[in-house]
Amino acid sequence: MNHPRQGVSIVGSGSAIVSQTLANEALSRLVETSDDWIQSRTGIRQRRLLPPETSLAELAAAAGREALANAGVDPLAVDLILLATSTPDDLFGSAGKIQHLLGAERAVAFDLTAACSGFVFALVTGAQFIRAGAYRTVLVIGADILSRWLDWSDRTTCVLFGDGAGAAVLQVSDRDNLLAFELCSDGAQGEALSLRYQGRPQILGEGAVISQGAYQPIAMKGKEVYRFAVARAPEIVEKVCFQAGVKPEELDWLALHQANQRILDAVGERLGIPPEKILSNLAQYGNTSAASIPLVLDEAVAAGKIQPGNLIALAGFGAGLSWGGAIIRWG
Ligand code: ACO
Repeated sequence: MNHPRQGVSIVGSGSAIVSQTLANEALSRLVETSDDWIQSRTGIRQRRLLPPETSLAELAAAAGREALANAGVDPLAVDLILLATSTPDDLFGSAGKIQHLLGAERAVAFDLTAACSGFVFALVTGAQFIRAGAYRTVLVIGADILSRWLDWSDRTTCVLFGDGAGAAVLQVSDRDNLLAFELCSDGAQGEALSLRYQGRPQILGEGAVISQGAYQPIAMKGKEVYRFAVARAPEIVEKVCFQAGVKPEELDWLALHQANQRILDAVGERLGIPPEKILSNLAQYGNTSAASIPLVLDEAVAAGKIQPGNLIALAGFGAGLSWGGAIIRWG
């Protein structure tokens, strides 16, 4: 086990909710599907889709701004901004733009990509800088605009996803409120879910050959991903509970990546955690990838459900394949 030099706490959360919605009924006029099929297989009723005039950096900055305001932290106090995203505006990274939009001039900012596990990976990464004594304040943002990368004629994927951003502020504290974490990767199964670059050979002048191309829409083997999620998510929650010395029944909340209500139900059942402790908002948002966990956390904080001192298990899972879990004490 690690022996942190400093403790870390989450001192605030925020989100940026996209206002434009697309209900299942409207989607069923675009592809051959139905509200009944989507709701019964996924729990999703509508998804939120970002209009073209807004960038990922602007959406993410809005979530970050709210988190800083809720935490009472000045942007100039931020040492590090971590942006978990798979859909940056710019492949060189979008975190720098967020730093500028927030006026967080002292902060170093970079992107981190781990698909739907991105927020958990970024939270744990940010916490290590604080624990090591390198930084005092870290802004972690999960933001994705998957609508940019869906094939809107493919009913097996386009019904599942939505856009959004959520954020959390981490600060150094006397008590360490990151009780346990575990991060995992399995590249051998990476083919199950991808948003892949595809290129064609292009010959340059004297004969050097390079590849030129573009990213292809999201491709998913739904059943494989489903089986992966219902096996790995409960396993990782059990592992981090064990590491933290917490029994699953002692958890106040389970904040899972919001991929599918059936996955949330199956994980809760495996762990013996009742549905009222499992945070869920995917009916209103769909799967927002790296944004889903901070969004559902922030919503529960704003609703007064999550209270300081509450024990929460986080678990993200998704492309890579990647998965990660953490036990946190809120506040
Ligand atoms: N509307 C109507 N019918 C559909 C749709 C749709 N949108 N999509 C598929 N179907 C059809 C299929 O063509 C198939 O028809 P067939 O039997 O004639 O071939 C039938 O419905 C059943 O399809 P399945 O793929 O077997 O449906 P399943 O019950 O497995 O549900 C689903 C599909 C919801 C995608 C499920 O597999 C799932 O939830 N997988 C996990 C997906 C996920 O969570 N991905 C994201 C996690 S990682 C990340 O977040 C990036």
